[in-house]
Amino acid sequence: MNEIVFKKDLCPKITLFRIKTPELVSRAKAGQFIILRAYEDSERIPMSIGGLDRENGLLTIVVMEVGKSSAEIVRMEEGERFLDVVGPLGVPTHIEDFGGTCVVVGGGVGIPPILPIAEELKAQGNKVIGIIGARNEDLLIYEEELGSVCDDLIITTDDGSKGMKGFVTNALQKLIDDGENIKFVMSVGPVIMMKNVAKTTEPHSINTWVSLNPIMVDGTGMCGGCRVSIDGKSKFACVDGPDFDAHKVDFDELMKRQTMYVPQEKKAYEQYLHKCKIGLGRSS
Ligand SMILES: Cc1cc2nc3c(=O)[nH]c(=O)nc-3n(C[C@H](O)[C@H](O)[C@H](O)COP(=O)(O)OP(=O)(O)OC[C@H]3O[C@@H](n4cnc5c(N)ncnc54)[C@H](O)[C@@H]3O)c2cc1C
Ligand code: FES
Repeated sequence: MNEIVFKKDLCPKITLFRIKTPELVSRAKAGQFIILRAYEDSERIPMSIGGLDRENGLLTIVVMEVGKSSAEIVRMEEGERFLDVVGPLGVPTHIEDFGGTCVVVGGGVGIPPILPIAEELKAQGNKVIGIIGARNEDLLIYEEELGSVCDDLIITTDDGSKGMKGFVTNALQKLIDDGENIKFVMSVGPVIMMKNVAKTTEPHSINTWVSLNPIMVDGTGMCGGCRVSIDGKSKFACVDGPDFDAHKVDFDELMKRQTMYVPQEKKAYEQYLHKCKIGLGRSS
């Protein structure tokens, strides 16, 4: 259980893992997440489900190294086991035959979780267009995987090194301007990107959902760490979400709350990297 059976660096600082968790995989649905711990003294880290291989009981997660805990995870190797992998957590993405085009929009490590969502949307008979974006070509991930599921995949890069030059929202705006009959948009990625997706679809009243990633601790609605404001009301992203109606989310508050512990996080990361350097950290 919880064994890493496959590991691959997708691009600098972003690593894919396939983990053997048959029981969890049998119950998991698109849009849910898990919380894992690498070792006894590790933090509980929420990760989106970036793929489900039900036949072989394999869960895919894609981890970006941003601090101490993610650095510890990306240093784990095939054959090692996570101490625990809890889930599936959260409410699955609501998926039905929307009677028009569905657009899935992903950025950074928000791209993998849109794959199971796109698969499920296709299984329900929808036309699915994917839009994925990165700063440049070298940072693009999941192009092949999404390309094989979506009816059409649009790529954007900030510097124009691949696909359309600009942001995912430019591509989304173009689809709207071209008269695509969009009935549903699902977006996962950096908060600023999801905020701008919401801004793009709101004037057209397009049903738009985002998957929120506030700081989480227990993941069961007990600690209040993941509180977000939706339509002026407090919700807990771990149990009420992570998906919410994009036009009702207070994105500015979420961005502020996400940066609450930056000085402490920076210090913990620096100390961990120093320990690795002098041979005292786990770097296997
Ligand atoms: C539902 C959900 C799904 C996620 N899916 C993915 C994923 O698929 N891939 C991925 O790389 N990351 C994902 N994250 C974010 C990931 O959990 C954080 O990057 C990780 O916890 C950072 O820990 P750290 O010690 O490496 O960095 P830190 O130095 O502790 O933090 C760096 C930044 O990460 C965020 N963060 C820190 N701790 C948490 C926490 N406990 N919960 C959420 N965010 C935190 C904060 O914005 C913080 O400023 C997800 C978060 C949530 C809530
Ligand atoms: S993570 Fe504690 S309430 Fe959601």
